[in-house]
Amino acid sequence: MVAAAGGAASQPGWSSRTAFVLAAVGAAVGLGNVWRFPTLAGENGGGAFVLFYIGCVVLIGLPLILSEILIGRAGRSDAVDSVRNVARESGVSEKWAIFGVFEVVAAFMILGFYSVVAGWVLYYAGVFGADFFGALFSGAPFAGALIGEAPEAIQGRMGDLFGNIPLLIAMHTVFMGITFWVIARGVHDGIEKAALYLMPAFFVLLLVITIYGAFVGEFSQAVAFLFTPDFSKLTAPVMNTALGQALFSMSLGSAALMTYGAYVSKETRLAPTAGMIALADTGVAIIAGLMIFPIVFAVGLDPAAGPTLVFQSLPVAFQQMPAGSLVGLLFFILIFFAALTSSISLLEGPTSWGINARGWSRLKSATVFSIGTYLLGIICLLSLNVWGDVRLLGFWSIFAESNIFDVVDGFTGKVLLPVSALLTAIFVGWRADKKLVENETGLEGGMFALWRFLVCWLAPVGVALILVFGLFPGLL
Ligand code: PHE
Repeated sequence: MVAAAGGAASQPGWSSRTAFVLAAVGAAVGLGNVWRFPTLAGENGGGAFVLFYIGCVVLIGLPLILSEILIGRAGRSDAVDSVRNVARESGVSEKWAIFGVFEVVAAFMILGFYSVVAGWVLYYAGVFGADFFGALFSGAPFAGALIGEAPEAIQGRMGDLFGNIPLLIAMHTVFMGITFWVIARGVHDGIEKAALYLMPAFFVLLLVITIYGAFVGEFSQAVAFLFTPDFSKLTAPVMNTALGQALFSMSLGSAALMTYGAYVSKETRLAPTAGMIALADTGVAIIAGLMIFPIVFAVGLDPAAGPTLVFQSLPVAFQQMPAGSLVGLLFFILIFFAALTSSISLLEGPTSWGINARGWSRLKSATVFSIGTYLLGIICLLSLNVWGDVRLLGFWSIFAESNIFDVVDGFTGKVLLPVSALLTAIFVGWRADKKLVENETGLEGGMFALWRFLVCWLAPVGVALILVFGLFPGLL
């Protein structure tokens, strides 16, 4: 077992296993499931993307969830220091801590654009909230939403929002403010409480809206789109996108799971928890797809519309649905809850690093990283508007068309997360002390051998191949 690290005595802990599971599932389930997954599945042709995605989840993501949590629990510190502690204990170079650094940087970058998108969610929650309460006072609360507004005008709201910089900034500010507030309150009173209330509420809302949605819309067309593979669409860049999305959605490669792992007690069995995270995360992504695409097809929208898909198509559909404004309001509240439990996990990684490595107080560390990501978010947000033509990585074919927002999103998903995943697999599979790793996983016999095979061979080789050919498709 690894000796306690310098600051470990003050390391906080979860009050129960349930608290940890809820917080970790909360970290995983987020905009990645309800916004990014449908967006990418739509853009990349559906079925083949989805199948490849599921393969990445099972063969690469699941073993790596366990790897990251165990590094955290064995190292008992922030993402960087935990890797360093495990390396030291295993008698290998402490330079491995570099992928802890990558993970903290990835979390910082992701939170930048994440909060902007969560801001759009708040805006739409406001739109449907106002609509619902307006309808309530006029005595017809269960009619459709946004009565009297032309479908084109409803879709145009997204463009209106993007055109309104003060409004974009205001929403981004509110969301980052709430995220900061939760993290400043600490592991017990902040992260844990948020997960304890928000995650059950999220699952109830998801169930209600999915059942409701099954009665409207083009369900069978959506099923065909999501599950009928056309393998000609599975190019190397599409595979890279699917892998990046699997890592993103399971919060891998971005410090969150290592940091949360450091707060787990020695008694908790890690393997079943890892399984629950992967299952819940993938289940929610698929359900979100089955909730969104029937509606997209029912109103005749293009599934490949991109990041605005969820925000433009669903409001049009809510107009025609009974109790549309109430369902719309609940839907955006659901996404908001999911986004918040993820954004706090994104901020906790860097915050914990500031506390352990810099000796800052929690308040100071949370403030520094909140302001930093907030400013990055403003830059992303301006690229939806006045900086729309700026091409940061225009020289690189896969980013040639990408504005700053898309570069930050794409670079983390396609480059940083896979690189960290690769290094995590090599470190845990080949460099970390085998006995230490075996004890932490709690797996025995054949299960341990299977997990180890995936971490030693399949994950690194798979990620390396996908990464190289995805980033440089010209090599094929
Ligand atoms: N997994 C979260 C989502 O799907 C995003 C996230 C990424 C959270 C990385 C933490 C770390 O929305």
